[in-house]
Amino acid sequence: MFTYSTRVSLESALQEVRNQNGTIGFVPTMGALHEGHLSLVQKASNECDAVVVSIYVNPTQFNNQEDFLKYPNTLEKDLELLSEFPKIKVFVPSSDEVYPKDDSYEPIDLGQLDLILEGKYRPGHFQGVVHVVRNLLQIVNPHLAYFGLKDFQQLAVIRKFSILNGDETQIIPCETLRDSSGLALSSRNLRLSEKEKVDSLIIYQTLLKIKEWRLLHSPEEVKQMAIDFFNDGALKLEYLEIIDGTHFVTLKDQWTTNGVCCIAAYCGEVRLIDNMYCE
Ligand code: PAF
Repeated sequence: MFTYSTRVSLESALQEVRNQNGTIGFVPTMGALHEGHLSLVQKASNECDAVVVSIYVNPTQFNNQEDFLKYPNTLEKDLELLSEFPKIKVFVPSSDEVYPKDDSYEPIDLGQLDLILEGKYRPGHFQGVVHVVRNLLQIVNPHLAYFGLKDFQQLAVIRKFSILNGDETQIIPCETLRDSSGLALSSRNLRLSEKEKVDSLIIYQTLLKIKEWRLLHSPEEVKQMAIDFFNDGALKLEYLEIIDGTHFVTLKDQWTTNGVCCIAAYCGEVRLIDNMYCE
């Protein structure tokens, strides 16, 4: 496995792959890798000739400085986990590499996506995500880029940006991985105690209840039932919304074929998000 810290060194390694008409896959991460990330790396490895995994904790997407400072850093272990995969090139850039002085990025209008759910509670977050993903995509210039569905809205934002930008990279959505109890895998879970992990299961349980209730109730009714159910648990709910997963509008009277419930909540100081299609 090879590790690169500069744009120039990565580009020249990728040139060899391009010279042989190889397909390049890209998995951007902020490190603290878990099985969820590794499932993206595995998928990319199955589908591409070479896979770049970037590890960069992007300061511009944290609207809360404390959250940024507390973001887990497990670089040594991450590299060990990645060394199990063939074809991997790990990119661990500095901020100067990601955000060069001649950075030509112009903020884009994300419309509704910036106003609801994560956009509403984390002002500036998606602009930060789009900026870093755009710069990383420019460096790696992959054929395929892999993103997890756990960050459902992030995926929609990146797709929107990619279309507006006329990008040729294909954006590949990847299923959320859960532990055996149902807790969605997240780097933030490292900050949860064993008891907090059990408390956090209320998120998954609520999502399952919603799928059950949707058969007999409207989205608006289900939303209220779900909030009541959730609030009997120990977490502090930030939002629970049932939306159309294509247009990101709140569902009220009618279910659409693409209904998704998105939840954000605090377990102590740790902010967790999850979602599920309401099929
Ligand atoms: O999903 C993440 O880990 C980050 O938002 C990403 C896409 C790596 C950008 O920093």
